[in-house]
Amino acid sequence: MNNVFIQEIKGVDWKLVSRIGKLEKKNLGSKASINRWVIPVIIRYGKFIVAQKSRDSSDIIGVCELIRSWKDKNTAFIHSFYIDKEYRKKGIGRMLLGKVIDILKNDDFKEIELTVDPGNKTASQLYKDFGFKKIILRKNEYGRGVDRDLMRLKL
Ligand SMILES: CC(C)(COP(=O)(O)OP(=O)(O)OC[C@H]1O[C@@H](n2cnc3c(N)ncnc32)[C@H](O)[C@@H]1OP(=O)(O)O)[C@@H](O)C(=O)NCCC(=O)NCCS
Repeated sequence: MNNVFIQEIKGVDWKLVSRIGKLEKKNLGSKASINRWVIPVIIRYGKFIVAQKSRDSSDIIGVCELIRSWKDKNTAFIHSFYIDKEYRKKGIGRMLLGKVIDILKNDDFKEIELTVDPGNKTASQLYKDFGFKKIILRKNEYGRGVDRDLMRLKL
C-alpha cells in the first residue's frame, strides 16, 4: 500500500456521499455510522479527511471526520476514524492519523479529543502511540452501558 493518498474532501457530491454512507455502515455498523444527512454537514462545516488507494483512485479506504469545539476553538474532536475492513493492519490507520495531526497542527489547533470504546485495544493503542492520554471514562455516553474513554492529545 505504498501509493495511499490522503486528502481533505472539500466539496459535496452526492455519489461520493453515498459511497461514504455505505463505507460507514460496513465499518462502524448501522448504529454508529452517519448518513447522507450528516456527511455533507461535516464536509462543509467540519473537516473530512480520507485515505484513497492512490492519488488517481476514487476508492476511499479510510475516513476521519472532525468537528471543532464550541467551548474552545483550539480543540478539534475526532468524531469518526476508521479504515475499511479489507485494508486494516497495513499501517494505513497510522498514516491517516499522522496526517490528520499534521493538518490540525498546521491549522493552529492546540488539542485533539476523541472517544473510544474501552475494549477497542487496537484503536486505543494507536492513539496512545501518537501521545493521546486517557482523561476520563464517560459512562453511558452513547446509550445505557455504552461507555467511552475520552482521550486527548496536546499539540
Ligand atoms: C483502529 C483502526 C482504525 C486501525 O487501523 P489500521 O489501518 O488497521 O491501523 P494500522 O495498520 O496502522 O495499525 C494497527 C495494527 O496493525 C499493525 N500493523 C501495521 N502494519 C502492519 C503490517 N504490515 N503487518 C501486520 N500488522 C501491521 C500495527 O502494529 C497495529 O497493531 P496492533 O493491533 O497490535 O496495535 C482499524 O482497526 C479500524 O478501522 N477499526 C474499526 C473502527 C474503529 O474501531 N475505529 C476507531 C474508533 S475510535
